[in-house]
Amino acid sequence: MAAKNTGGSTAVQPNPESAAGEPLAPPPPAAPAVATETTVSFRPGLEGVPATQSAICDIDGNRGILTYRGYPVDQLARQSSFLETAYLLIWGELPTIFQLRDFEHEVKMHRRVSFRIRDMMKCFPASGHPMDALQASAASLGLFYSRRALNDPQYIVAAVVRLIAKIPTMVAAFQLIRKGQDPIQPRDDLTYAENFLYMLTEQEPDRTAARILDACLILHAEHSLNASTFSARVTASTLTDPYAVVASAVGTLAGPLHGGANEDVLDMLEEIGTIDQVEPWLDRAIAAKQKIMGFGHREYRVKDPRAVILQGLAEELFTRFGTDPMYDLARALEAAAAGRLGAKGIYPNVDFYSGLVYRKLGIPRDLFTPIFAIARTAGWLAHWREQLGANRIFRPSQIYTGYPERTWLPLEQRPLPT
Ligand code: SDX
Repeated sequence: MAAKNTGGSTAVQPNPESAAGEPLAPPPPAAPAVATETTVSFRPGLEGVPATQSAICDIDGNRGILTYRGYPVDQLARQSSFLETAYLLIWGELPTIFQLRDFEHEVKMHRRVSFRIRDMMKCFPASGHPMDALQASAASLGLFYSRRALNDPQYIVAAVVRLIAKIPTMVAAFQLIRKGQDPIQPRDDLTYAENFLYMLTEQEPDRTAARILDACLILHAEHSLNASTFSARVTASTLTDPYAVVASAVGTLAGPLHGGANEDVLDMLEEIGTIDQVEPWLDRAIAAKQKIMGFGHREYRVKDPRAVILQGLAEELFTRFGTDPMYDLARALEAAAAGRLGAKGIYPNVDFYSGLVYRKLGIPRDLFTPIFAIARTAGWLAHWREQLGANRIFRPSQIYTGYPERTWLPLEQRPLPT
């Protein structure tokens, strides 16, 4: 149907192929002018740009050293507990025996989650990803503790305890719910890691397995201004509630370039299949400029120190529970990648071996990143408190690359794509 020519400008001629009444596919936007000048301050991904000052964690990317409040992470992984490490990160000092016992007790007393949240989780599709279930349930905590008294120290302490205590319960609850079962209540006679394994499997946890999981939680607890922690700080800077802060960070961690890589590493190793396929697979991946999951890091130019420790934990599990052929495959891939990517400073990161530990612990693959989130809740809360201590809302600038000012045109005067 040709539109009547209204004179003046070219009448709009609808696309004859389009059926009457169907919305026309919008023409592709004209490519905006690309910024020609690059200013010194613009760095894609804020690489190397300090966005905050922090006393929580330090990374020496060239020497592969990671410290939490000055303590090397390998000492903490060997000698501390996750709750003691969480206390250190959040409050700044190792707790006294009384402070630790009190913190452990408070966390135990707050592990339970309202039946309303459990019932809400029963409405989630069983096929949903556990990270999406965790983000939704973490955010829902804000409905129950909605008083935002950020200037009340007791409110801060209560929020820290609730999130550290309830995140594992919610991860375990969705695991049982998606299997069609009712979630089980936490047990106060079990440690933090033992109780998580118990709620996840409904079985008495193996003490060695629980200790190794606890060490994994320590290794994943904090890592300076990674994407999800930056997300937490940006959200915290608006003075919203801590439950929204953690929910925001969970959503960020879920991405495959960040916390989601641990799942993808096992998929990648399965795709490679056998040791004799490692080099051909790697050469094809590099030629296709494919990112090798579990490798590379914005900060490290050497092997991630956490990967070194996780490898040791994996080997301890293999000694106790039997080996995993996938570990030999992983080590072959690491050796082959060293020759091809090492010169670019691309080595295994925390996600490369962590999945093999969780796999040997019998944890489903899509729960690897939620376990990362359980641990990183300590780091996010430490940064939340630190942000509140010297807050200014994050609002960076941009380099505008869009159109210069222009005038709106009525429909009949808009030129049709040629
Ligand atoms: C975590 O920040 C943190 O601290 C995160 C974390 C934490 O504890 O919070 O440590 C946890 O997120 C670990 C990372 C998990 N993600 C992965 O394993 C996904 C694979 N890794 C890459 O996507 C990458 O290494 C990143 C995202 C981790 C870091 O990316 P950068 O710093 O933005 O580097 P880049 O993408 O700009 O790459 C720089 C060069 C490129 O080559 P060139 O184009 O310059 O020739 O290095 C190459 C990249 O192609 N490169 C890789 C690679 N990572 C970088 N090439 C092949 N495989 C890779 N994994």
